[in-house]
Amino acid sequence: MILPDIIVNLKLYREAIGQRAVQIARLAEEVGRETGVAFGIAPSLMDAWAVAREVDIPVFAQHVDPVEPGARTGHVSPRLLREYGLKGSLINHSERRMRLADVRAAVRMLRGEGLASIVCAGDPEESLAAAALKPTAVAFEPPELIGTGVSVSKARPEAVTRTVNAVRSKFEEVAVICGAGVSTGEDVRRAFELGVDAVLLASAVARAPRPREKLLELARGAMAPED
Ligand code: G3P
Repeated sequence: MILPDIIVNLKLYREAIGQRAVQIARLAEEVGRETGVAFGIAPSLMDAWAVAREVDIPVFAQHVDPVEPGARTGHVSPRLLREYGLKGSLINHSERRMRLADVRAAVRMLRGEGLASIVCAGDPEESLAAAALKPTAVAFEPPELIGTGVSVSKARPEAVTRTVNAVRSKFEEVAVICGAGVSTGEDVRRAFELGVDAVLLASAVARAPRPREKLLELARGAMAPED
């Protein structure tokens, strides 16, 4: 699977659950088609199947447990994600931290199912350590900026660059994503200028009064000037 340019995490925002999750996913698909910018979406696990049935853009889980199907209660396995049409999962999000052994196992099991793994990390050093597990991508998100509307690409550009350089120099095949506070087209543009492969964001879209307009603005930020 080719990594999308912009991944929208809907979290558990009230404005972005149930039918709203499906609507936002449809809008992302529509805006993506219009602009050529590839969107992905990570709805709540309760909504993920419904969303995956309705749209063709890649749908990611917000979390996955590194477990096989069977006598498990309250878990979601990599196999289940594949069977329900999801394309991968976030792992170790700052709001859903996991033990290192579980992160490692989740990456391996997702790979085994042919699914993408996006391992979140809070700083450049942790991002490099995450990249050593050979996931599809690492997502650098400074926790203190998450949900603030202050973009990592503006507030911590040197940390983004450091992450990109560190990961690229050692693990060329691992994509680098940044996120936290990314809210405007300009924030997205700056992130790509810093060399990331994709951006991960949530509140700017999930809580937007007019999500279509916001998605369009963000997509424009991801387009090269000659587009
Ligand atoms: O997973 C993305 C997220 O943690 C960033 O959230 O609201 O700052 O875009 P937000």
